[in-house]
Amino acid sequence: MSTPAQASPTDAPATGEPLVRAVNATKSFGHNEVLKGIDLEVARGEVVCLLGPSGSGKTTFLRLINQMEVLTGGRIWVDGELIGIEERRGRLHRRKPADIARQRAEIGMVFQRFNLFPHRTALGNVMEAPVHVKRIPRAQARERALSLLDQVGLADRVDYYPAQLSGGQQQRVAIARALAMDPQLMLFDEPTSALDPELVGEVLNVMKALAADGMTMIVVTHEMGFARDVADRVVFMDDGLVVEQGSPRQVLAHPRQERTKAFLARVRHEAQARDSLAAAQVEGLIADD
Ligand SMILES: Nc1ncnc2c1ncn2[C@@H]1O[C@H](COP(=O)(O)OP(=O)(O)OP(=O)(O)O)[C@@H](O)[C@H]1O
Ligand SMILES: [Mg+2]
Repeated sequence: MSTPAQASPTDAPATGEPLVRAVNATKSFGHNEVLKGIDLEVARGEVVCLLGPSGSGKTTFLRLINQMEVLTGGRIWVDGELIGIEERRGRLHRRKPADIARQRAEIGMVFQRFNLFPHRTALGNVMEAPVHVKRIPRAQARERALSLLDQVGLADRVDYYPAQLSGGQQQRVAIARALAMDPQLMLFDEPTSALDPELVGEVLNVMKALAADGMTMIVVTHEMGFARDVADRVVFMDDGLVVEQGSPRQVLAHPRQERTKAFLARVRHEAQARDSLAAAQVEGLIADD
């Protein structure tokens, strides 16, 4: 695949307000309180990896940021704006649908399942939202889509339909499709966990290049090697709360909380059982200390 253009890494500490700020964010489904008060800030240009056991609320948190779910309590700001609600004359009002659509257009989301339109080519999938949501002229949207497909290494697959593409290729189309809306924030929900092991690397490489380009990213993943190498910060969630956060080295190699230790031990054990390469990566976290 072609190598995406490498910009200088944005290691410089981001200044100003965080791009994402969640304060005591809660979410219940009926009587089931799934998020119990999440406080989290993500700076511009920062890559945050979100880890945690199944059911801990990781997907729900991403869906709240992207307004696919409505908060039960607390507040989330994206780019300084309250999402979903606004304050007018000292009172909170639900935002109008057009306003919510505008806020959502700033955020790209990539799911475990690629969710491509099966009856559209790779190019058609990437052009769809810019043309129909942003009303960008077709020729311009097409040019940009071709450039994005090139960026994710698919210049030679633009006319293929999803069924003619491998899982890794479909996921790269999905990333290009999200980028076509020029989001300021990218949310990834286990983007590689539905892929055959040999296809994981090509998707992670595209994400790495995106991170190096300065994209702000929240990534739910079990790929410990990616978290170690690419994340600025690792956040461990359990049972609807942030249990521990810090640098990858601190959280992955020197976890302080028992729940983090137990989770990492389990992931390591599963990785060992499943795949010796992944096991080596997890072991490497400890060995190269
Ligand atoms: N639409 C919904 N209605 C009812 N309960 C829900 C809904 N969505 C999620 N839940 C519940 O919320 C809890 C957290 O789910 P969530 O999908 O956020 O977890 P997760 O950390 O992403 O887990 P996994 O690692 O398995 O993807 C689960 O108990 C789940 O059953
Ligand atoms: Mg999930």
